[in-house]
Amino acid sequence: MTKTVILISGRGSNMQAVVQADIPNLHIAAVLSDNPQASGLAWAAAQGIHTAALNPKDYPSCADFNQAMLEMVSAHAPDLVLLAGYMRILPPEFCSRFANQTINIHPSLLPAFPGLHTHQRAIDEGCCLAGCTVHFVTDKLDCGPIIAQGAVPVYDTDTADTLAARVLKIEHQLLPQAVADFAAGNLSIHGKRVHNRRTAGEAGQD
Ligand code: GRF
Repeated sequence: MTKTVILISGRGSNMQAVVQADIPNLHIAAVLSDNPQASGLAWAAAQGIHTAALNPKDYPSCADFNQAMLEMVSAHAPDLVLLAGYMRILPPEFCSRFANQTINIHPSLLPAFPGLHTHQRAIDEGCCLAGCTVHFVTDKLDCGPIIAQGAVPVYDTDTADTLAARVLKIEHQLLPQAVADFAAGNLSIHGKRVHNRRTAGEAGQD
């Protein structure tokens, strides 16, 4: 079983997509947050999943909060840490503790538009395509080895909100599939490239 901790900061629709995918060999041990008001926490609790939140305001410094979060996650001894809309930058200690075991979903076609406001930036740059990226997390923000990407068109009439809604639909497909591939042992990291035994097999590369 791949013991998984999911970190969220808000509504948690990607977390819900992973839970509802009912992925073989995946056990969701906890959904944790840096935001006690995150609506995704209530949803996860209603599914019978253990939930907990730490409020950064309760800690004297960001470093203290990060240490507490690292300890809370570590207490579950997860095989996989999933960042599903977790809006904080993980400290290097977290990245190295869970190296090659932490996966993030980012709402752009990386390496374009790391960081925030990705949809508006894609519109402002006149991109014809936008999308999302599932990647392993390293201590370089939004730069880790890419597991999967999905693209959608950008229309002349798009706002950041309409584009975000179109991208979110494919996030909900891409993330559960990437987690399923991790849990099935299909992923191996070779430098910046992730080899996926399933997709390589389907493409006749194996
Ligand atoms: C998603 O767009 C995800 O790519 C980004 O934050 C958003 C979270 O949405 N990292 P949700 O909380 O999963 O609904």
